[in-house]
Amino acid sequence: MAHLEGVIGDLLKATEFVAMVTQGPNGPHLVGNWGDYIRKLGWEADTILLPAGRYKETEANLVRDGGRMWLMVASRQVQGTRTPGQGAVIEGKAHIESDGPRFEKVKANFPWARGALVIAVTGTKTQL
Ligand SMILES: Cc1cc2nc3c(=O)[nH]c(=O)nc-3n(C[C@H](O)[C@H](O)[C@H](O)COP(=O)(O)O)c2cc1C
Repeated sequence: MAHLEGVIGDLLKATEFVAMVTQGPNGPHLVGNWGDYIRKLGWEADTILLPAGRYKETEANLVRDGGRMWLMVASRQVQGTRTPGQGAVIEGKAHIESDGPRFEKVKANFPWARGALVIAVTGTKTQL
C-alpha cells in the first residue's frame, strides 16, 4: 500500500496544520503549514506538495542534511486505537523546486509562493 493511503490519508484529509522538522547545525528546526494547503494541492501516492513562501532555514537544512524531513499530522476526527483522535509522523526526503510543473501548480494556487516544497515520503507511523 502507498504511504499516504488508509489512516494516513484520513489524517491528511482532516489535519488542521502540519508540523515539519528538519535537522539544523544546532538542533531541530520546526516550521508549519496548513492542512487545507495540502488538500488544495492534493497528494500523490507517496508525494506531498506544499507552497514555500519562506522556508529559507528549512531549505538550508535540507540541502545540508540530505533532504531529511519529519512531519506530524493529527486530528480528533480520525479514530485512534483506543480513543477518538489519531496522529502520525510522516518521514521523507524533501527539496524545494523553483521551476517545472510542480512549481507551476503551486504558483497557480498560491501566487505568493517562491517554490514548491516536494516531500517524497519514505515512511509513516501512527502514535495513538
Ligand atoms: C500553521 C502555519 C502555516 C504556515 N504556512 C506556511 C506556508 O504555507 N509557507 C511558508 O513558507 N511558511 C509557512 N509558515 C511559516 C513557517 O512555519 C516558517 O516560519 C517560515 O516559512 C520561515 O521558515 P524558515 O525558518 O525555515 O526560514 C506557516 C506557519 C504556520 C504556523
